Amino acid sequence: MKTINSISNMTKTTVRWRQKGLSVALVPTMGYFHEGHLALMRMARSRADRVVVSLFVNPSQFGPEEDLDRYPRDLERDTELAKGQGVDCLFSPSAGEMYLPGFQTWIDVEGLSQGLCGASRPGHFRGVATVVAKLFNIVRPDIAVFGQKDFQQLQIIHRMVKDLNMPIDIMAHPIVREPDGLAMSSRNYYLSIEERKSALSLSQALRLGEKMVADGIRSGQDIIQAVRDHILSHTGTKIDYIFLGDPEELEECQEVHGKALLALAVWVGRTRLIDNTLLEG
Ligand code: PAF
Repeated sequence: MKTINSISNMTKTTVRWRQKGLSVALVPTMGYFHEGHLALMRMARSRADRVVVSLFVNPSQFGPEEDLDRYPRDLERDTELAKGQGVDCLFSPSAGEMYLPGFQTWIDVEGLSQGLCGASRPGHFRGVATVVAKLFNIVRPDIAVFGQKDFQQLQIIHRMVKDLNMPIDIMAHPIVREPDGLAMSSRNYYLSIEERKSALSLSQALRLGEKMVADGIRSGQDIIQAVRDHILSHTGTKIDYIFLGDPEELEECQEVHGKALLALAVWVGRTRLIDNTLLEG
C-alpha cells in the first residue's frame, strides 16, 4: 500500500490506473479507524480494481467550539489497518495544501443541510460537501463509499453528485455496531466507562421506536416522546435532536406511513453522538 500526501501525486496515480482501464473506489475518512471504516474499505475492495482511502481531518467542517484539536489521530495504526484490508493507497494531504491561502469556493447543499445536525452545527455540511467535492476532483473515483450512520451527510452527498453531474456512484454501507448495539464512531473513544453505558441509550431508543411502529403505533409525537424519555433516563445525556421524517427530503412527519427516518443526536457528557434507523410503517 502506498501512502500519498501530495495532491498532484494522488491525481497522477489514479489517472494512470484509469488509463490502464482500472476502476477506482474512494473511501473518504477522517481516520482513527474502527470496524465501521474497515467495513467501508471491504465494500470498496469488492467493487473496484483499486481502492483509495483518504484520511483528512477536515478543519472546515468543525465549528470554532468543536473538537478539531482533540479529534483522535493515529496515522501509524491507521496505516496498518488499511493495509490489512487490501487498500491500494492511503491519501493523507495536509490542511495547508487542501486549503491554500485565498481559498474561497464552497459547496452548499442548501435545503438538506438546514435541519438535524445542520441546525446545531452551522457550516458543518458546507465543509463536508466542499471537502468531498475536492476529494472527488483529486481522486476521480468511479465509486465512493460512505457509512449510513451519517445519514444526513449521505443524502447531502447524493444530492451534490446529482445536482453537479458528478460521474460517481455513491454507495452506502449499513451502520456497523458494537455487540451491545452502540454504533461505531471514532468519537466513542472520548467516552468514560459510565458514559459508555449511557451511550447505549441511543441504539436502545431506536430499537424502541422500531418496536412501537411494528406494534402499529403511527404517531410521531408518541414515538419521539418514548425515545426522549428512554434517553433522558440515562445519566449525563442531553438531547440535541430527535428527528422523525422523510428519509429523502429530511422533512419532519407527524405520522409514520411507509419509510421514515428516526435519527438522533445526543450529548453524553462532552461527547455528541449520532445514530439512526429506517422505520417501515
Ligand atoms: O464522515 C466523515 O468522516 C467526514 O465527514 C468525511 C466524509 C470524510 C468528510 O470529511
